[in-house]
Amino acid sequence: MPLVNTREMFKKAYEGNYAIGAFNVNNMEIVQGITKACKELNAPVILQVSAGARKYANHTYLTKLVEAAVIETPVPIALHLDHGDSFELCKSCIDGGFTSVMIDGSSLDYEDNISLAKKVVEYAHPRNVTVEAELGKLAGIEDDVNVSAEEASYTNPAQVEDFVSRTGVDSLAIAIGTSHGAYKFKPGQKPQLKFDILKEVERRLPNFPIVLHGASSVIPEFVDMINANGGQMPDAIGIPEDMLREAAKMAVCKINIDSDLRLAMTGTIRKYLAENPSHFDPRQYLAPAREAIYNMVCHKINKVLGCKDKA
Ligand code: G3H
Ligand code: 13P
Ligand code: ZN
Repeated sequence: MPLVNTREMFKKAYEGNYAIGAFNVNNMEIVQGITKACKELNAPVILQVSAGARKYANHTYLTKLVEAAVIETPVPIALHLDHGDSFELCKSCIDGGFTSVMIDGSSLDYEDNISLAKKVVEYAHPRNVTVEAELGKLAGIEDDVNVSAEEASYTNPAQVEDFVSRTGVDSLAIAIGTSHGAYKFKPGQKPQLKFDILKEVERRLPNFPIVLHGASSVIPEFVDMINANGGQMPDAIGIPEDMLREAAKMAVCKINIDSDLRLAMTGTIRKYLAENPSHFDPRQYLAPAREAIYNMVCHKINKVLGCKDKA
């Protein structure tokens, strides 16, 4: 099955009260770990590439890795640009074989966010590429942009109909309390999501797919594994998985997960090297790291996304 855009995936996810996992990919082991899980559990998936990933691994390497995954994995797979910050970057990914792009104008003022998203939609749609935009501003670190909790702002539901109808975007990322990275809440803080905003957005945009960024749960097992093997991560708190599961039953059709994969991979490699200090063949530590990615994605499909057997 060739790469698909997100249209059909999201339609089914909306109707079926589940969400599609959007996992960030940076190298072969990550692509393999994610797609092995999706193949086994018969789950559709979005493989997403950030500008940083594209800089690190190069566009051609990443698209060819994903092409290989498509050959090996008989489930719907979309190749998505994560946090595109300009028309030119979106165009380059569309021209280079991506089936979905995010234009992230969340740092712009409202009207500029609209005109940029509209311009991307006008280029993407005739080429059968779907477009995600963002309204509201998440806290956290993504690429080189660090948004502090004070600068972050929840999505204003009163703007969503106007934004979607004037831009023509296919899905909308909203800010309801998730944030990027491993440090989403301060120690002692109780994780919370603004379900009232999600409900109001859902009411105003019937049958329209909503996206949650910054949706890693920062599973303590892996933070502990990192710290038990020479790491020095401060207390890290993520989004509780039951809240994400709740959101996936509502209008949320795409849940973005990167940090949980990073933690699983790094924890596993640190543990392996601590236990096997004389080993130096990268395959020896990358194989269990790839397995950790696979296990994490199986876990997310079963416990958070609900997309098992939805391929
Ligand atoms: O939201 C951002 C993703 O976690 C990607 O991170 O820009 O460091 O590749 P990155
Ligand atoms: P996390 O940092 O919570 O994994 O979020 C990833 C993300 O939103 C990618 O766009
Ligand atoms: Zn994001």
